[in-house]
Amino acid sequence: MTPTTLFTTEFDPTIDAGLQGNYQTPGDKSISHRALLLGALAQGTTVIHGLLPAADIRSTQQALQSLGVKLITRDHTTEVIGQGGWQFQPTAEAVSLDLGNSGTTTRLLLGLLARQRFTSHLQGDASLSQRPLRDIIEPLSEMGAKFTTETATLPLMIAPNQWLNGLRYRLPVASAQLKSALILAALQADQPSVFWELAPTRDHTERLLQLFGAQVTATAGKIQVTPQRQPLQAQELTIPGDPSSAAFMICAALFRPHSRLTITNHSLNPTRTGLLRLLQALGAPITILPSSQTKTVEPAADLLVETWTQPTGTIQIDQHNLGGVIDEVPLLALLATQLPGTSVITDAATLRHKETDRLAVITEQLRLFGARIDENPTGLVIHGGHALHAPTVATLNSHGDHRIAMTLVIAELLLQAKVPIAGLDSIAISNPTFLQDLVRALGGPA
Ligand code: S3P
Repeated sequence: MTPTTLFTTEFDPTIDAGLQGNYQTPGDKSISHRALLLGALAQGTTVIHGLLPAADIRSTQQALQSLGVKLITRDHTTEVIGQGGWQFQPTAEAVSLDLGNSGTTTRLLLGLLARQRFTSHLQGDASLSQRPLRDIIEPLSEMGAKFTTETATLPLMIAPNQWLNGLRYRLPVASAQLKSALILAALQADQPSVFWELAPTRDHTERLLQLFGAQVTATAGKIQVTPQRQPLQAQELTIPGDPSSAAFMICAALFRPHSRLTITNHSLNPTRTGLLRLLQALGAPITILPSSQTKTVEPAADLLVETWTQPTGTIQIDQHNLGGVIDEVPLLALLATQLPGTSVITDAATLRHKETDRLAVITEQLRLFGARIDENPTGLVIHGGHALHAPTVATLNSHGDHRIAMTLVIAELLLQAKVPIAGLDSIAISNPTFLQDLVRALGGPA
């Protein structure tokens, strides 16, 4: 991704306005990936409404097309012509897949490609190629998958393989991507598998698989997978809004005067509402309203968010609640600067292996606004209760990380500071209409 240093829209953080009107949350990224992948395996045509139109999802779509799966997109609907089983039918004997920036596509495909008749070569962009895959490669290899990689990162080769055994495995890290890769491999295995989660993580794979007819049960962190001999059954589904995208608009509305913003179609899946629960517990003015949208595949609601005139409390994150806010940590660091006390994020070393080292990058960037943040190996201590200021540097730097870029945009909005942000175009990875939507909510042109 080429970094840009300029704002690409008429977004003006110095504008004197609150956020108003309706914000239609873009489709959930995690569910979008999974709906496409399960649709590809199912028997029949899966119809997906509200798929997220973002670069990461295009990585999954292109990978599936290279694997021989037919996709048809019309307006806001995507049809996946299911292959009716686990075996992909690519036209060549070896398949090369470029997975761009998408960690989810990569990890879920490792599980799906573990037992195929052809060779797969996987590669990605510079950021994705640095992200460790050992946690996934090791258990999948124990199941019988054949990976070749020098550094347990991309690029990586998966050799043809026609055998996978079941596995009983305690996940050493809390990761929905790891869990999902293992479940997808276990469904193709010759014996049942049991996995134990270290801490709760998003459960979209389990929920969607159950909907598509697989025998996967999950109770109190124990996941049992029965090999799936019959094809999954195609579904028609509407994707709820992504809480990790809505989070930026929620924070902007809370901390800008004169805001009254309705967030439509916000997922209420409890594994994704960590930020919402945390804000409600602190007394932030967020009201949950019945959903005004079509029924979604997971529960969703509208949220009314108003200006938080007297923010109180602190944020405390540890391994028990990290999973529910895993993608919101950079934004949480900013939010914590707006609270009166000292907030602590701990047990979060995994954040160092996201699109960037998010603990280091957000500390570096928010310090440019005068934030008092102590960084330690597994987390951050954020000392709130004092005013931030406009950065004095010529350029802020997202390091090409979409969630850092959006956090910096919101930081500028809160401080009415206009400083170019390098790598702003990375926002297209998860939320391509973010700046437009923000401009509209602030009363600017749609
Ligand atoms: C995702 C899981 C999370 C999250 C990522 C998407 C998923 O990662 O950070 O953006 O779709 O499964 P973990 O594997 O750390 O849970």
